[in-house]
Order: sequence, then structure tokens, then C-alpha cells
Amino acid sequence: MSEKVKQTASIVEQKELAEGIYSMWIQASEIACKAKPGQFIAVYSDDKSRMLPRPISLCEIKKEEGKIRIVYRIAGAGTEEFSHKKKGDTIEIMGPLGNGFSKEEGKIVVIGGGIGIPPMLGLASAFSQRVTAVLGYRSEQFLREEFDKVAKVYVATEDGSDGTRGNVLDAMREEAIEADVIYACGPTPMLRAIKEYAAKKQIRCYLSLEEKMACGIGACLACVCQSKEKDEHSQVHNKRICKEGPVFLAEEVTL
Ligand SMILES: Cc1cc2nc3c(=O)[nH]c(=O)nc-3n(C[C@H](O)[C@H](O)[C@H](O)COP(=O)(O)OP(=O)(O)OC[C@H]3O[C@@H](n4cnc5c(N)ncnc54)[C@H](O)[C@@H]3O)c2cc1C
Ligand code: FES
Repeated sequence: MSEKVKQTASIVEQKELAEGIYSMWIQASEIACKAKPGQFIAVYSDDKSRMLPRPISLCEIKKEEGKIRIVYRIAGAGTEEFSHKKKGDTIEIMGPLGNGFSKEEGKIVVIGGGIGIPPMLGLASAFSQRVTAVLGYRSEQFLREEFDKVAKVYVATEDGSDGTRGNVLDAMREEAIEADVIYACGPTPMLRAIKEYAAKKQIRCYLSLEEKMACGIGACLACVCQSKEKDEHSQVHNKRICKEGPVFLAEEVTL
């Protein structure tokens, strides 16, 4: 696994994509050159009363330019603080963290729900062929045009304002989307349903779990999930999402 780097990095661009959802490009060449889609960075707060870094997935990686992009939703004080930063400001980050996605062959379908959509953009663009993307939005759409450039996009909206009314699996069924491999990131109920769907249809399926974390580097066990296999070190049926994940084969984990 690639070695992580902690650094104070410059913000190259920050903009609001939709209400409360921000895109930040960061100049971080050492992290960019080691990173792969599905990995994440730990973002530190300037307010030292918030000791723990916030884990945010890599949305895009531009290795030649040494830049990484994160897209995040304001959830609380940490992400609120990040949203006030401007081009030219600095931000303390550590990464790349976690395992990232393994690229497979066949009919690839990437599925993102809500704030699980950003990491799927970097993954979709990493394939040489045009993949299928199924994106589930609750309300305002973001990153849609960027997905259109790299994937055949299907949208599901809860209110039916665009695409299929319902969730990402409703869109899969309505559009009769075929898959050999599914990659998904989003809320746990969505991942649980995709795991069941993939098992029933015998589709190879990778899930990225964005559960709560603390240390982000495998030291505190705050992020364990139940696994089918025993962990080789601890000999228990647990895996650390920040270290052995956040990406798992669906059949490996209990949701
Ligand atoms: C591997 C990983 C990748 C992630 N990638 C992204 C990303 O690309 N974009 C993005 O917007 N967010 C992402 N998250 C979630 C993000 O880390 C949290 O939203 C963030 O840490 C909240 O920090 P805060 O200080 O703003 O809010 P806090 O004050 O810490 O929390 C505010 C509220 O959000 C809830 N919350 C905190 N963390 C999570 C979480 N992981 N899942 C669900 N609810 C949470 C808290 O319970 C609380 O109700 C990711 C999380 C993980 C573990
Ligand atoms: S967050 Fe500490 S072990 Fe995963």
C-alpha cells in the first residue's frame, strides 16, 4: 500500500457546486502521485479544539499537475470551516489513505448516492472505456456534467424531477442496466440494497463504506465493520474501514 504524506497544501480552487456542497482543488503533488480512486485524505481543522481530521474521499486526481480534488457536503463545524477557505489559503491534509478501488474488466457500472457520488467520478474516468454511471440525488444535482463526459449517465431522483423517480436500484431496473461489475458508494441502506441486488444477480460488487472515523490510520478501531473473514492480526470478524477499506468486496462485509 502507498505511503501516506502529511502536508500543509495550497488551495487552488474552491467553489460551491450546489447548496452546501463544495469542490476544492488542492496542490499536493506527493499525494497526487501516489493516490488512486477510492482512497481518501484526512483534512485537519485550523481550530485545534477539533483534534480529529475529517476523512474526505478523493473525487479526482491529476497526477501530472500534482492536484487532488475533494467534493464535500457541510455536515458540521469541520466541513463548515473548510468551506470558508479560498484560493491561495492553506489546508493541512494527510493521504492517500485506505485501499481504493481495484479496476476490473467487463460491463462496469459505478453507482453513487448523495455525497457518495464524488469518489465515483475519479473511478469512472480511470477506465479506458466509457462506463455506465447511476447517480442518485435527493434534490439539486452536482457533478452531473462532469460525469456526462466520461460515462453514460442514468439519474434517479427522489421527487422524480429528473430520470427515474426513486433510488439508484429503481433506475437500474427501469433502464434494464446490465453489469458485470458494480462499484458503489453512498448511504448504508443504499449499499445494503445494492449488496443484495448484486448477490441475487451474481454480479461482482465493490462497496465503499464512508462510516464515521477517528484516527483514520488504523490505530484506534473506531471504524470497524463486521467482516466474513477473520482479520489476520486480531483473529476477530472485524475490519477497519480506514485501513482495510474503505472499499470492500460486498460479500466480505456485513452491513
Ligand atoms: C472514508 C470516508 C470518506 C468520506 N468522503 C466524503 C466525501 O467525499 N464528501 C463528504 O462530504 N463527506 C465524506 N465523508 C464524510 C465526512 O467525513 C463527514 O461528513 C465529516 O467528517 C463531518 O465533519 P464535520 O466536522 O463537518 O461534522 P461533525 O460535527 O463531525 O458531524 C456533523 C454531523 O454529521 C455526522 N457525521 C459525521 N461523520 C459522518 C459520516 N462519515 N457519515 C455520516 N454522518 C457523519 C455526525 O454524526 C453529525 O451528526 C467521508 C467519510 C469517510 C469515513
Ligand atoms: S479510524 Fe481509527 S482505526 Fe479506523
